Amino acid sequence: MSETENLAQNQPHFSTEDTTHFGFQTVAKSEKQKLVANVFHSVAAKYDLMNDLLSFGIHRVWKRFTIDCSGVIKGHKVLDLAGGTGDFSAKFSRIVGEQGEVVLADINSSMLEVGRDKLRNLGVVGNINYVQANAEELPFADNTFDCVIISFGLRNVTDKDKALRSMFRVLKPGGRLLVLEFSKPILDPLSKVYNFYSFNILPKIGEVVVNDADSYRYLAESIRMHPEQDVLKEMMSQAGFEQVSYYNLSAGIVALHRGYKF
Ligand SMILES: C[S@@+](CC[C@H](N)C(=O)[O-])C[C@H]1O[C@@H](n2cnc3c(N)ncnc32)[C@H](O)[C@@H]1O
Repeated sequence: MSETENLAQNQPHFSTEDTTHFGFQTVAKSEKQKLVANVFHSVAAKYDLMNDLLSFGIHRVWKRFTIDCSGVIKGHKVLDLAGGTGDFSAKFSRIVGEQGEVVLADINSSMLEVGRDKLRNLGVVGNINYVQANAEELPFADNTFDCVIISFGLRNVTDKDKALRSMFRVLKPGGRLLVLEFSKPILDPLSKVYNFYSFNILPKIGEVVVNDADSYRYLAESIRMHPEQDVLKEMMSQAGFEQVSYYNLSAGIVALHRGYKF
């Protein structure tokens, strides 16, 4: 077993009452939100560029697949939670049209600001609202949305169970949650290459492009600490979702989970 795999295996995948993980570090629960905020304030301006560079553009394919699985149609109300720079908001805004609505919600003011500027430049106006909100305590009425999407966001949330319950609450009966997130590769040889890339190359690219290796080291570590496919599926069921299923994308580097509120 490699040093990286050893490290990940020795970390608690579930938080204790007072502590949780920030990458491979154990931190006080009250501290994690601030540490995550620092990461996204630091990377916001170059977030989109880094997404393309680090994934070789493949994040666009994962996102396209997610939209195809969303069932979102004209007139729907969609919550793009932890929506950051608004890739999903831009696409859903066009799909739901004038009678629909998209809410781009994120806890981080820098990410929201970059998202708002980007969407305005793309001509996305009218059916979109921007809300600064914590996924754990969503400031929306019960039964508001037809679809909630959280993409590459859940990994960063301190209390994931609380956040999933909050998403369940704001969904309408018949609505669905989509969780697109890094997950556990299902092919062993791929894991080795992927681990090398994540822990050796990724922080170096972060250093060169954003002058911030630490945030990209956190990215690699937080992916290893995130609940794997079947664990997340069970967490969604525990939060009340039904017919929960997932698709492995790029051999499990990423997984799309979907669940319904009936
Ligand atoms: C990796 S970015 C993903 C952005 C976008 N959804 C995408 O797929 O490109 C993660 C986002 O999660 C947000 N975030 C982290 N913790 C959050 C929380 N507790 N509630 C809401 N948003 C959160 C961050 O501010 C950041 O914008």
